[in-house]
This record gives sequence, C-alpha cells and structure tokens, in this order.
Amino acid sequence: MNTSRISRRRFLKRSAVAGAGSIGLPYLVASSALGKAGSIAPSNRITFASIGVGGMGANNMRAFLSQNDVQVVAVCDVEEASDEYGHWYKKGWDGAWFGREPARKIVDDHYSQKGCDAYIDFRNIIERDDIDAVCVTTPDHWHAIPVIMAAKSGKHIYCEKPLSLTVAEGRAMVKAVERYGVVFQTGTQRRSDERFRFVCELVRNGRIGRLKRIVTSIGANNKEAPAKDWKPMPVPDGLDYDMWLGPAPWVPYHKDRCLYTFRFGLDYSGGQTTNLGAHFIDVAQWANDTDRTGPIEFEDLGAEYPADGLFTTATKVHYRARYANGVELTCETDPNGPMRFEGTEGWIEIRGGKMTSQPKSLETSVIGPNEIHLYKSNDHHRNFVDCIKANRETAAPAEVGHRSTSICHLGNIAMTLKRKPPGGKLHWNPETERFTNSDQANQMLARAMRSPWHL
Ligand SMILES: NC(=O)c1ccc[n+]([C@@H]2O[C@H](COP(=O)([O-])OP(=O)(O)OC[C@H]3O[C@@H](n4cnc5c(N)ncnc54)[C@H](O)[C@@H]3O)[C@@H](O)[C@H]2O)c1
Repeated sequence: MNTSRISRRRFLKRSAVAGAGSIGLPYLVASSALGKAGSIAPSNRITFASIGVGGMGANNMRAFLSQNDVQVVAVCDVEEASDEYGHWYKKGWDGAWFGREPARKIVDDHYSQKGCDAYIDFRNIIERDDIDAVCVTTPDHWHAIPVIMAAKSGKHIYCEKPLSLTVAEGRAMVKAVERYGVVFQTGTQRRSDERFRFVCELVRNGRIGRLKRIVTSIGANNKEAPAKDWKPMPVPDGLDYDMWLGPAPWVPYHKDRCLYTFRFGLDYSGGQTTNLGAHFIDVAQWANDTDRTGPIEFEDLGAEYPADGLFTTATKVHYRARYANGVELTCETDPNGPMRFEGTEGWIEIRGGKMTSQPKSLETSVIGPNEIHLYKSNDHHRNFVDCIKANRETAAPAEVGHRSTSICHLGNIAMTLKRKPPGGKLHWNPETERFTNSDQANQMLARAMRSPWHL
C-alpha cells in the first residue's frame, strides 16, 4: 500500500467523523498518477475518473484533462469502442470514437505516458481509494446509483443533467451528497454562463417589475424513430448490454435504444422534457429565486406521445406550472422559441444566447454594487475543481439540480396523465415532495429497479 492510499483512508475517516456538511480537502496523488501537470504539487492535484465516456462524457473528460491540477487516472464505459458513435459525432470530435478504449488513449496521449486504467464496471472506480472525484456522464437511468455509491465512498461528483430519472432518485442523491459531505456539481452549465446570470440578476433586481410569467422553449426530438416493426439486433462485440441496461427493464437490443438515442425511451430518460428542459427550467428557477423549492401546480397543455414503437417519450412537450408566488412557468416544444421572462414593467428574451428586452435599455443595464449579485462562475468544470479545493458549494449543487430536474419530471407526469383543468391540475407540495390530489401521480415519483440494482 503506498502512502497516498493511507492518506486517503485517513482523509475519509476524518470526513466521516466530521459528518454532514463537511467537505474534505483533496489528498495526495498516487505517484503512478504523476504526468504532464508536473508544475502543480502532488498534494494540490485532484485524482479523477470519468464514468461514461460517450458523446458528452468525452467532452467532460477533455474539460477535466485540461485542468493542470487534475490528474485523470481512470475511465469507465460499458462500451469498448463504437463506430456508431464515430459517425454520429465524428466532425465535432476529431474523428475519435467513443467508449473506454478511445477514452483511455486520449488520456494516455494527453499525459504522454501509459497509465490510465479503463473499466467496464464503475464499481471498480468506486472501490479505489486513490481517486478523489468522478464525473458521471452515463445515460439518465444510470446517474443515481453511481452518484450515491461515489458519495458514500467520499468522492466528489460532477454529474450530468438531468440529475435523475425520477424525483425519488433525485432526493436520494441529494441526501447521500449531503450526508457524506462531498462537493457536487450538476452539469447544468448555464449556471456558469454570464449571459444567463445577467438576465437572472435583472429579473431578481426587479428590472421588469414583478415577475409574472416564464416561458421555456425546447427543441424537438432530433432523431427519427425506427420503423414500428423494428426487429431486435445482435448485441455488438464490445458492448456489455446487460450493464448498459442496469436498473432498467430487460428488453432486446436495438442500436436506437442506446447511444445518444436513449433520450427517446422512457425507461432511460424523460425525453426532451428532461434532456433540454433541465437546462432552461434551471435558469427559470434561478431567476425566480426558487432554487430550493418548486411550483405548486402542474397541468398538461396538449402534449403528444407516440402511439407505439421503440421511442416512447413525448413528441410534443407542453405543460404549465404555477409557483406559490403566482409566477407561471411553461415548457413547450418550439425549436425557434425563446426563453422569456415577463414582468409587470417589461420583458426579457434570450434566443440563441442573445438577449432582447423591453425596455431596450435593460440590455446595457449595470447591476449596482448594492443590488443582488448571483453566484459567479464562468467555467462550470473549473468551478467544480475550485470548489473541491476551497471546500465550498458549487454553482449547481445537488439540491438545486434536483429541484430543477424534478420540475421536468412533474411536467412529464402531468402530460402523461393528461391532467388538464377544469379540476385536472396536479397539486404539488414542494416541502413533502408529494402530490396532494393524485395517488396515481405519486406512484410515478419512483420506479422499481431491475435486480440486483437498487438505490
Ligand atoms: N450538459 C450538457 O449540455 C449535456 C449534453 C449532452 C449530454 N448530457 C448528458 O450526459 C449524459 C450522457 O449523454 P450522452 O449524449 O453523452 O450519451 P451517450 O449515449 O453518447 O453516452 C453515454 C455513455 O455511457 C455509457 N454507459 C452506459 N451505461 C454505463 C455504465 N453503467 N457505466 C459506464 N458507462 C455506461 C454508454 O456506453 C455511453 O458510452 C446524459 O445524462 C445527458 O443528458 C449533457
């Protein structure tokens, strides 16, 4: 056993004794992990592993590789390497294929030495006590279990949005993160985008009067569903399909279930409602100052779902929620639509990252020193690393990610149950995180997991 491992065990013990809310400092890096980042003292480097290195996972991994006080020591993916990924992402990704072997090569090339470990099973990473932090970029049905296990093992966590597959999963993740006192960042990177921060500060400082309405627009499904008479396909070499499914029900393999397109299957995701919604609903929560709570009413405004086939998520999203402060929030499939804030004295829109407003003067408005200033981060990955080192809360902590993802789940529940007025609205209690007028809706807050997996 080397000294770094002993140090980490001591660190973990300290954290456990210190209890909830304490955040441990990074410990010594294993000597085997020393690479290019030689100018940074080993004691200040954070050892890091990427779980899920598909499209976004590789992006996240590259972002952490570029931090010179981070040492990526391991990657994990149930896919060895896939050309399915290759042609889907080729242009944007230097022609690299995705999966654990290409990811390992990217890491080894980056450090100009071999040494990155590559695993199929994320539990091999969880059990290593020489790893400080993990990035979880698996499909949504595979966020909760690795996050909870990582938290229990004292690892800091960057986890992609949408945080969870269900409200119950999200709450369990928050509890674990808080109980074991680890630093957590949700991958809602608009929290680290000054354009969105500025708009939220304008709204919070009353520049459009009293906020009345928030409109969020999301893109349509961007992949055609396979034909209705789709046939199962042989599982490709190099893919551990049983592990890909994990806690989801067993079903025969088809390529359009898995890479990227898992987004369109309700067993793995909430569709664009959660995939894209998680970003904009998160900004809505930020502007409305409701980061640690949520709306009290949800209703369907005419969502559409496919009648049958492999893709099961909404083809048209449209729901409305209402907060206790009277603010109305809508989410609608409208690829060219804006994110819009309406107040008693004006409005602000963001479309394609560009802001317009009424009055126009808001666009050049300055937030004064005595006004409300929101959490400032301009780089989501860097913010995570800085917060580990400084023992402080990130731009998008677990509770915040959970609350915005919950709204997407609750919208999905209202749309699935076609809950419309009159008399059809779902009433939500954000304190107890239960509906007060529908047992059927409450049953949709959690899901059974396929054995042996459980929260
Ligand atoms: N923040 C953003 O802007 C953003 C953008 C894209 C995706 N995402 C999120 O990232 C996550 C992944 O999306 P993607 O587009 O990269 O999907 P993807 O299908 O391209 O990649 C997921 C990867 O996870 C792997 N995987 C599946 N089960 C695994 C397991 N048990 N252990 C290890 N690896 C496993 C898959 O083999 C695949 O390589 C999703 O939650 C998605 O919402 C976020």
